[in-house]
Amino acid sequence: MRRSSYVDAEGGAVALPTQVSPPQVAVSDVAPSAVVGADVVAIPVLPGPDGPTLGPGAAELLDELDADLFGLLDAFSVTGAVGEVVEHPVLDTTGLSNPDLRVLLLVGVGDGTPDDLRRAGATLARRTRGRLSVATSLAALCDDAGIRALVEGLVLGSYEFHWRSDGPSTQPVGRVVLAGLVGADDRRDVVRRALAVAGAGWRARTLALVPSNVKNPVWLAEQASEAATAAGLQVKVWDEKALAADGFGGILGVGQGSDNPPRLVRLDYTPKRGGRKAPHVVLVGKGITFDTGGLSIKPRDNMMTMKRDMTGAGVVLAVMAALADVDCPVRVTGLLPLAENSVGARSTRPGDVLTHFGGRTTEVTNTDAEGRLVLADALAYAVAELEPDVLVDIATLTGAMKTSLGQKTGGFFATDDALAATLRTASLASGEPLWRMPLVADYEERISSKVADADNAGGGPGAITAALFLQHFTGGLPWAHLDVASVGDSPVDEYEYSKGATGFGARVLLYWLEQREPLAGVQG
Ligand code: BES
Ligand code: ZN
Ligand code: ZN
Repeated sequence: MRRSSYVDAEGGAVALPTQVSPPQVAVSDVAPSAVVGADVVAIPVLPGPDGPTLGPGAAELLDELDADLFGLLDAFSVTGAVGEVVEHPVLDTTGLSNPDLRVLLLVGVGDGTPDDLRRAGATLARRTRGRLSVATSLAALCDDAGIRALVEGLVLGSYEFHWRSDGPSTQPVGRVVLAGLVGADDRRDVVRRALAVAGAGWRARTLALVPSNVKNPVWLAEQASEAATAAGLQVKVWDEKALAADGFGGILGVGQGSDNPPRLVRLDYTPKRGGRKAPHVVLVGKGITFDTGGLSIKPRDNMMTMKRDMTGAGVVLAVMAALADVDCPVRVTGLLPLAENSVGARSTRPGDVLTHFGGRTTEVTNTDAEGRLVLADALAYAVAELEPDVLVDIATLTGAMKTSLGQKTGGFFATDDALAATLRTASLASGEPLWRMPLVADYEERISSKVADADNAGGGPGAITAALFLQHFTGGLPWAHLDVASVGDSPVDEYEYSKGATGFGARVLLYWLEQREPLAGVQG
């Protein structure tokens, strides 16, 4: 019997070690200094023309605490810029309303824009690792968008993935109390949405970080089924036999070099209101659980991060599981084409021709351009079977996108200007910026093939020709293609991004799909 690589010596499944959990977040209208049980209090510092000022909550603290906070600002040349934190130990708790207080943090919030607050939240999360509870007035001056960003930054800045025998290196702060909030009760829904969106980013990140000796297509399909069942979604999974029976030649062609067989997962969400009559969005996520390049093998260094080549599928899974939590008003189907692009006796060879779902053919001139082969099948299936109003795919598709945009901005293509504008706006609001790229039809001849309907790796410009290749499978429907190869990976810990996989895309898609009319203005 063939043993898959994610069983141990006894044939049992290798379980992921228990991972850290995000902090709990609560709201309160009392001042942070009055939150009993908090070992940390964090007060905002605002920049100003006459020097920095202390934000809400400071006055109450100064009444109780014998500390020269203004002297502290001076001594550390604090400006109030985002990323600044000054720490002041509390050694004597006599006379404090909160006897558990140990540390006071002064946190720069810059101009207080959502971007600043997201970063301030992440900075605070990093400085309070290992603490029990922090009470902060950082949210006291915020509107709803600011609270969303702050909480999302707090949660994602707490992120860690580990596989150490002795457990995670640190624990995130256990609890965050957003104190001094006027009308705290009315802000709970905003906090709830922020936690859903940040939780989706957290999940997408973890899925991308799981090593590929565990994360093969079967494992990822199981994760999708479990998450979907917990979230009340319908699930359907194609195994390799069903894929062959239905003609998914792209997914099979990419997966056939591996001992780990491919899968296709379909997840369906129906909103409470509007039900089956609501507009229908189909999301497709590239799910290559490891990309060696196949027989057109990658150089050693380029292969290093390729366990993350399923980021698109991880994002779609995480988004699907969070749709109900953000009250998404449209129907959404998620398709996850999952395959391992491996080197083996049965691998697809350069020059082989594959037949996609629905009959279109592709000459595979480079087996490393595999993402478009699996996406093509899923897009063709969506067009033929699902009657979508809008198609969106997300994929770590091309190194060319990384060259074009670097690692802080993702690229996207769109056939519809309203869809493009909505996605761009959602990307800026969510902190996952996307830049629109052109679908230049003049490059179409570069993906033409002498023998098949298209060549999978005709030539440059690489991100554009990849998009043109996919466009043939979209049936002329409004379509957007997010190429997140550039941003699937962060080279350093920076604000809400932790070094390594980013799960980029979960937040932007949820910011889009939680809108009251996500398809407003899109031409049907
Ligand atoms: N998974 C890669 C793209 C990638 C590169 C993702 C870097 C993340 C970081 C994709 O399958 C690939 O190898 N694309 C090739 C296509 C080429 C052979 C036409 C590329 O971009 O080099
Ligand atoms: Zn590849
Ligand atoms: Zn790839």
